[in-house]
Formats: sequence, C-alpha cells, structure tokens
Amino acid sequence: MTKRITIAKKSDIPENEGRAFPFEDRMIAVFFHNGEYFAMDDFCPHQGASLAAGWVHEGSVACPWHAWRFALKDGCWLDNPKIKTDVFPIIVEGEDLILEIDDE
Ligand code: FES
Repeated sequence: MTKRITIAKKSDIPENEGRAFPFEDRMIAVFFHNGEYFAMDDFCPHQGASLAAGWVHEGSVACPWHAWRFALKDGCWLDNPKIKTDVFPIIVEGEDLILEIDDE
C-alpha cells in the first residue's frame, strides 16, 4: 500500500540544498533543484553519510563524506548506475511537499 505524508514545507528547503526528515524508521532527504523537488533515502549506500548534507549540482547530489554522486531523479550512482539508492515521488500541494512511499 502506498502512503502519502506531508514530509516538509516548500520553504524548508533552500534552492540547491537538501534537508533530512524522519519517516518511520528512516530518514528521507528532500532536495530543491532547478525548480523541482526530489526525495531519496538519506542514508548513503557507501558508508551511511547523510545525503541531505551533500552538494547539489547539475541534477545530482554528492555525498559529503567521499563525494559519491547520485542522480536526483532516479538515485543511481553516477559512476556505476547498477548501484542506486531509493527515490520517492514528491507532489507539491500548495506549500506542502507530499511524499508517496510504499508501505513495506
Ligand atoms: S559515505 Fe557516502 S560516499 Fe562514502
């Protein structure tokens, strides 16, 4: 079943930055880049840094620890797209950012 939750407000996330928000037992990183919002698992699949603290540039986020870069749209590691992290749809409703996430 897919859950819809208000994860943040648009004003919570400056342009070209990310912020992490709790959802159940995980953290979700939400980014605002080129007028669009993106959401992915905040836990870097390399060694677990917070991707929300990374550098957002040209459609990707670079992990703050070792600079692995992940595409914002699909979560693929740019150096090896076979490795990816989870991404989630974000819907903008007024000021609210609505996350759609499968309930596992
Ligand atoms: S922890 Fe993210 S690249 Fe190493």
